[in-house]
Amino acid sequence: MAMASWTRILLPALLLALLQIPRTTATASDHGRRETIDPPSVSIFFNIDDLKPGNRMPIYFSNKKPSNSPHLLSKQESDSIPFSSSHLESLLELFSFSRGSAHARAVESTLTLCELEPMAGETKFCATSLESMLDSVRSSFGHETQLRALATTTHSARPVDDGLGSGLGSVRNYTILKEPEQILTRKVMGCHTMPYPYLVYYCHSPAGETKLFRVLLGGEGDGGVVEAVALCHMDTSKWDRDNPSFRVLKMVPGEGPVCHFFPRFDIVWAALPV
Ligand SMILES: *[C@@H]1O[C@H](CO)[C@@H](O)[C@H](O)[C@H]1NC(C)=O
Repeated sequence: MAMASWTRILLPALLLALLQIPRTTATASDHGRRETIDPPSVSIFFNIDDLKPGNRMPIYFSNKKPSNSPHLLSKQESDSIPFSSSHLESLLELFSFSRGSAHARAVESTLTLCELEPMAGETKFCATSLESMLDSVRSSFGHETQLRALATTTHSARPVDDGLGSGLGSVRNYTILKEPEQILTRKVMGCHTMPYPYLVYYCHSPAGETKLFRVLLGGEGDGGVVEAVALCHMDTSKWDRDNPSFRVLKMVPGEGPVCHFFPRFDIVWAALPV
C-alpha cells in the first residue's frame, strides 16, 4: 500500500472533537496515553454569531492534494479485507506496520472508534467504500429521502502542496465574503475521513438540533477562496466537558451552540425537507 502521510489527515484531538467522543472512552484501550492537542488543527470551531459577512476569523484547512490521500477502494476490494479490531494482528501484517508504530496505532484507534456504540440519540457507522457509505446513508435516512452531498472545497491561486510536505497547511485569517447560506435539512450525516491505509469514513448523525451552512471564505495571503461547509450543534449540554471545542471557544457544555467547518475530504449528507 502507498504510504501517504495519512496519519495526519486529521489529528486525533480534532477527530475526537468532531465526533464528540469523550477522550476517556476513545483512549480506554490506549494505556491512558493522552493525545496532545495540536492548536492549528482545532482552529475550525466558531460561534454561531460569527457567521456574518465581513467577519474575519482564523481557520485551519489542510492543504493536502487529493492524490496524497488514502486510496478509495471499490466495495469488492474493501469487502475482501477484514475491518475489525479482532483482526488487528493480521491487518498490521497485511499493511506491513510494526506493532507500536504511529501507523499501527492509527489503524488500532480507527478500528476502536468505529466499533464504539453510538451515543444516545446518535446514528453512526464506518464505511470502507463509497457504495457502502451510500447504502448506509440511504437506510439511515430512508430510501425515499432526497439527499444532497456537500464538501468543503478550496480554490487556490497557487498549487498548495508539492506532495513532499506534511499537507498540514496552516491557520490563516479568512473573511466571510457573503451572507452564509443555510441549507434546510431534516437530518445531517457528517462523514469524516479516518487515519487508515485506505479511505475509511466515520459517519455520524449527531443527536440534537443542528444547522447546516455553506460559507464562502476569502483567505489572506495565498489562501484563495474556500467554499466551506459548516455545521452548528445547537445543544451541547450532553457533550464531554473536555471536548477541545470548548477550550477554543472558552465555553462549557450547554452554554451555547458550537459550530465547526468541515475539513476538506469529509462528506456531509443532508436529508432535504419534504
Ligand atoms: C489574523 O489577524 C489577527 C488580527 O488582525 C492577527 O493578530 C493574527 O496574527 C492573524 N493570524 C494569522 C494566522 O495570520
